[in-house]
Amino acid sequence: MNSVSRWIALTYSTLVLTATLVRAETHVFNWTTGWGTYNVDGTKERPVITCNGEWPWPDVTVNKGDRVEVYLNNGFDDRNTSLHFHGLFQNGTNQMDGPNMVVQCPIGPGDTFLYNFTVEDNVGTYWYHSHTAGQYQDGMRGTFVVQDKDDFPYDYDEDVVLQLGEWYHDVTDVLHHQFLSVYNPTGAEPIPQNLIMNNTRNNTWHVQPDTTYLLRLVNTGGFVSQYFWIEDHEMEVVEVDGVYTDRNTTNMIYITTAQRYSVLVHTKNSTDRNYAVMQKFDDTMLDKLPADLQLNTTNYMVYNADAELPDEDVVDELDFLDDFYLVPYNKVEALGDPDYRITVNVSMDNLINGINYAFFNNLTYVVPKVPTLMTALSAGEDAVNAEVYGSNTHSYVLGKDEIVEIVLNNLDSGTHPFHLHGHVFQTMVRDVAYDADTDVPHPYQEDDHPAFPEYPMLRDTIYVRPQSNFVIRFKADNPGVWFFHCHIEWHLTQGLAFVLIEDPQGIQERSSQQLTESSINACKSLGVPFEGNAAGNTDDYMNLKGENVQEKFIPSGFTAKGIVAMTFSCLAAVLGLVAIAVYGLMDLSNIEEKVINELDLDVDQVVAADSNTEDNESEPKRRINSD
Ligand code: C2O
Repeated sequence: MNSVSRWIALTYSTLVLTATLVRAETHVFNWTTGWGTYNVDGTKERPVITCNGEWPWPDVTVNKGDRVEVYLNNGFDDRNTSLHFHGLFQNGTNQMDGPNMVVQCPIGPGDTFLYNFTVEDNVGTYWYHSHTAGQYQDGMRGTFVVQDKDDFPYDYDEDVVLQLGEWYHDVTDVLHHQFLSVYNPTGAEPIPQNLIMNNTRNNTWHVQPDTTYLLRLVNTGGFVSQYFWIEDHEMEVVEVDGVYTDRNTTNMIYITTAQRYSVLVHTKNSTDRNYAVMQKFDDTMLDKLPADLQLNTTNYMVYNADAELPDEDVVDELDFLDDFYLVPYNKVEALGDPDYRITVNVSMDNLINGINYAFFNNLTYVVPKVPTLMTALSAGEDAVNAEVYGSNTHSYVLGKDEIVEIVLNNLDSGTHPFHLHGHVFQTMVRDVAYDADTDVPHPYQEDDHPAFPEYPMLRDTIYVRPQSNFVIRFKADNPGVWFFHCHIEWHLTQGLAFVLIEDPQGIQERSSQQLTESSINACKSLGVPFEGNAAGNTDDYMNLKGENVQEKFIPSGFTAKGIVAMTFSCLAAVLGLVAIAVYGLMDLSNIEEKVINELDLDVDQVVAADSNTEDNESEPKRRINSD
């Protein structure tokens, strides 16, 4: 290159740089958590988690390339917190990703954490939420839209966000204690009381005639999937989870928690009437149908404020779009054979303490003593060895740029939405549902599967059907520690998660991945080590003595159900009246009956299991009525 062309190149790159600098904005947010009382669904006041004393949390809109700085101040006096920007790749900024003990220390009461990152590779519809102890079900969440007007492939007139959700009348703390309890041996999830939209029930959306809306649907609920449709209006899907798609016309969307769909809706020319915007619970996910639960909720698309509000729109059939068949707008071809395959089986079972847990390959996720990212950063060459991350974090180490395949076999009879942090993945296979009453679970068969799509759908959250399976693939091109988990918050607390440590050396080498002052301070403040293996050992990373592990499996020779009844008896004896108060339960003998009924137990069998334990030296022998 001669000096003139070098000068031109230099000037050009300076110009480009200046142009980018001018366009990119920095958005600074100062958010403090707290509690307030709100009547969100119009039927009951309850405590919710506020942002700077207000609720709901702000909806955020940024442009592609912008910087975001969130100072999250923990204003609680009795609990930790954290924030996750769901779907953002956080390339080079893994410690801003949110999950406690995966990439950061929890933020203790009175502490501040700075989430500081640039939105480089993401466009479209996202959301943010606390990644701690079900706090987003108490309202700690908002939508997060990354605008990219110059490159958005379709025309529209107006951009509208509809945040879908569900609402409980009790705070998560209370539900959580009831849920993860010996008194709930089947792991029945608490059932929400209502569906909400934009943080209210029966939401009104004012529209103009003959206008094209880009409607961004975000499900910020923590449990149940929803059906969404608009009376007498078609929707054209153009984005899912931040991935633009070819247009796909449908009347109904099925959206799990954490998923997003952007649809184009063209309004009618006439304004003489209004239309129903419907949400419906996927009731197949509920263990019971409480008599007073409204499965459908009507919201209003209002063309004419003087005309009547519409009635509920009833449909004969839930004929919704199958997202498996969507095609990404960019036509990214299917990834080839994997370099690395992870096969996991999902199941749910009781451990010896009587509590119902969720498992991938018999491992229920237990937090390590050192956040996994901090182990990866401090382990030197040992970072490539999965063992240093602990046996109960269920960690896999991925090589740089490997094609990774996750085969997930759902041995459970429920539908589960799974989310991978740090990536979108291609959905290669998603099998049909296999009815638990008439069929057995069907694991994926490598030598007998449907043809892979040419341009598989890409997204960050995908559901698996009952007793079914899916296969997803992605390229390990984002060095970091990434959580993979069920996005049903109840199931995450039951341990339905594993961890991917992607290119650990690549993490160590990048300066932007080194711990920020804020990261280190969060740890120091709570006395959590920020170096060492999963057991906190900094001398010998291969020595995991003292690591956190899950409860034991039920010893052979005991039936699971018998043990549950036994454990329940012991615990009831130990906890006694306190438990009755804490769990709000009436009468211990009734509870025992309830457990027996729920598990469909043979009473003789329970008694037999109970007396078995008399011989078991290591088990406490007290009975409910023995004190
Ligand atoms: Cu919205 Cu770990 O997820």
